[in-house]
Amino acid sequence: MRKNIVAGNWKMNTTVPEGVNLAKEVNDAVAAAKGLKCDVVIGVPFTHLTAVKAVIDINKVGLAAENCANHVKGAYTGEVSAPMVASTGANYVILGHSERREYFNETNEMLKEKVDLALENGLKVIFCCGESLELREAGNYADFIKAEISESLFHLTAEQMADIVIAYEPIWAIGTGKTATSDQAQEVHTMIRALIAEKYGDKVADDMTILYGGSCKPSNAPELFAKPDIDGGLIGGASLKAADFMGIVTAF
Ligand code: PGA
Repeated sequence: MRKNIVAGNWKMNTTVPEGVNLAKEVNDAVAAAKGLKCDVVIGVPFTHLTAVKAVIDINKVGLAAENCANHVKGAYTGEVSAPMVASTGANYVILGHSERREYFNETNEMLKEKVDLALENGLKVIFCCGESLELREAGNYADFIKAEISESLFHLTAEQMADIVIAYEPIWAIGTGKTATSDQAQEVHTMIRALIAEKYGDKVADDMTILYGGSCKPSNAPELFAKPDIDGGLIGGASLKAADFMGIVTAF
């Protein structure tokens, strides 16, 4: 069964006390909301995971780390492993965000290792993909996105794919206020679902949750989420205010 999901990606924002307050606000709003048509997840900095886990009902609000290491343990100063993330009680990890790819040189090969470690440790993965403005304008974005997905995910079994959520985030739409049109997003989501179907068959493809991310806000979420292949959003800026985030959560 395909699930709708709205996931927040706080990025490098909020102190621990601020984050705890924001998480409480989101948790209370989700608990009070009637008949929500999506699952809700918040992605928070590593330092916040344990404290946030303590103030949310994980059955109502999922908890994601924003990254994990491609090693299990050892001499990797400053890194945080998938077992460490799982030990906080978090149940998701966001992997392959374009900011990680760009500023921290994450490659498809490295992300493949991270995906494996996340799944081995019981974490569901929100796997990000998406093209630059240059690729969009050159018109060859489809091949780029296909490579991101196939090179990091297509070694998985069909069963493992059930724990993967794909987030399509065109880089030119992230934090720019320039949202992809719902037709542009739908076109890529359809292409991604067809790619999954080609590799894993229709059932796995139909069940796959594919999120859109990039300047998604309460005003444009309803139109985006009305598209048949857009199953929710990965929300950056608008996830930092509970009211804005809830405006997106209730957009279905
Ligand atoms: P944005 O970020 O909503 O601020 O554009 C989305 C993301 O980077 O996940």
